[in-house]
Amino acid sequence: MRVSPTVRAIRADEAGAFLELRKATEAQSDFLLFEAGERSTSVEEIERLVGDFLSSPNSTILVAEDDSGRLVGFLSARGGAARRTRHAVEIVIAILDGYRGLGVGTRLFGALEEWARGIGVTRLALGHMADNDGAHALYVKMGFREEGRKKAVFLLKGRYVDEVLMYKLLDV
Ligand SMILES: CC(C)(COP(=O)(O)OP(=O)(O)OC[C@H]1O[C@@H](n2cnc3c(N)ncnc32)[C@H](O)[C@@H]1OP(=O)(O)O)[C@@H](O)C(=O)NCCC(=O)NCCS
Repeated sequence: MRVSPTVRAIRADEAGAFLELRKATEAQSDFLLFEAGERSTSVEEIERLVGDFLSSPNSTILVAEDDSGRLVGFLSARGGAARRTRHAVEIVIAILDGYRGLGVGTRLFGALEEWARGIGVTRLALGHMADNDGAHALYVKMGFREEGRKKAVFLLKGRYVDEVLMYKLLDV
């Protein structure tokens, strides 16, 4: 089954909903940086974070919204701050359990590329835990290539896990 969530940029008044989404995805996946309940971000902090993304010319948070208006996934892209890196963004993506494998991630990456091309961002990059085969398959499908591997970056349930670095260049 494919679903057709609305994919769009986050609005400033959705910081609270974004915080809930982030908390839920962290509780549902071992492949994200923070463990369930590990960070206690306040509403004020998340409002500041969303505000920072919205006011940055080369950063964005894209969200996927289901028919009932619930946020079910996000993709954040943070652009470099220096002139020499402002063409490049670092990506984080997470979809709510129950909405995975339905094409939401694919749609978010499609919207990301449209946004990136529109403002001259030419390098998309991300890292994932070496065990995260589902995410790796999505990134390969979206045209990302592996560019390296950092050793033992994560400690997951008592075991060290490498980080796989991936990138995609647009129009270069
Ligand atoms: C990884 C994740 C972002 C993928 O998003 P998604 O919406 O489920 O992905 P899509 O449905 O668009 O799938 C796109 C492709 O990814 C691959 N894929 C997705 N989930 C997969 C899985 N569990 N196993 C194998 N391949 C998978 C498939 O190739 C799929 O293409 P296809 O449908 O044509 O076969 C999502 O599952 C998720 O949020 N997981 C938990 C958090 C996480 O791991 N985030 C990434 C951290 S780096």
